Amino acid sequence: MAVQESVAAGLEAGVDASADMGSGTAPRARHIRSFVRRQGRVSNAQQRYHQEMMAKIGVPYAAARLDLDMLFGRVAPRILEIGFGMGETSAAIAALHPGNDYLGIEVHTPGVGSLCKLVAERGLHNQRIVQHDAVEVLRDMLPPASLAGVHIFFPDPWPKLRHHKRRLLQAPFVALLASRLQPGGYLHCATDWEDYAQQMLAVLSAETLLENTASGYAPRPEHRPQTRFEQRGRRLGHGVWDLVFRRRLDSLQAENDRQDEFA
Ligand SMILES: C[S@@+](CC[C@H](N)C(=O)[O-])C[C@H]1O[C@@H](n2cnc3c(N)ncnc32)[C@H](O)[C@@H]1O
Repeated sequence: MAVQESVAAGLEAGVDASADMGSGTAPRARHIRSFVRRQGRVSNAQQRYHQEMMAKIGVPYAAARLDLDMLFGRVAPRILEIGFGMGETSAAIAALHPGNDYLGIEVHTPGVGSLCKLVAERGLHNQRIVQHDAVEVLRDMLPPASLAGVHIFFPDPWPKLRHHKRRLLQAPFVALLASRLQPGGYLHCATDWEDYAQQMLAVLSAETLLENTASGYAPRPEHRPQTRFEQRGRRLGHGVWDLVFRRRLDSLQAENDRQDEFA
């Protein structure tokens, strides 16, 4: 099966039973979401900063490729973070590396408001936010081979077997991620669920554009601050597994092929 077909098939695997059936029209295929929209209480501060800052650093979802140089107003290494939660880790990393640009994706409004507040309070100039499904942002907005790195810290573990299909890190999405990395760019994932760690190791190892920087799991990189979910996991007695893969330097030809296929 061609990469494009397998990605499309995977992303749209299991057409959502609740998909819009329309009146007499064919069902619209939707990929299975890796999140559920939670109400969650939005504090006054989160709401205020969300409103004020998303007008400045928010990037509305559109089915059109982003010009990242224009978005950040400079040329610099671009690091994507998927599912930043309340954004403490994102803000800490962005503050430590002013020479890099950071694009955070999150769907949860209190979390987006929280990162907006941290960005405003710390005067960070290198953080932008998209509040939308990361699968669609990667697929529709990010150009192939445009990212120097990707962070996915403690993605929702979906521990019940019947929910495993909701896990973000599955082969089709990993192929999409790999296509958006520059050759040499890294993908750093961490989880506190052992069976998800094993799944990540298997799917990342099977992606031909990627190579492992470690043999198996990676030592926890110094630059990754402890995230909120990690602290919670540790309180519950969970272990933590880091995985750091790189896009192969020699994957240029494959990159060109995939650029055509994902375009
Ligand atoms: C378990 S939390 C981890 C948050 C944070 N990284 C941490 O370690 O504290 C996972 C986050 O990913 C977000 N998320 C899940 N799937 C997503 C998707 N497809 N697009 C954007 N955000 C997503 C959820 O809203 C949630 O906030």
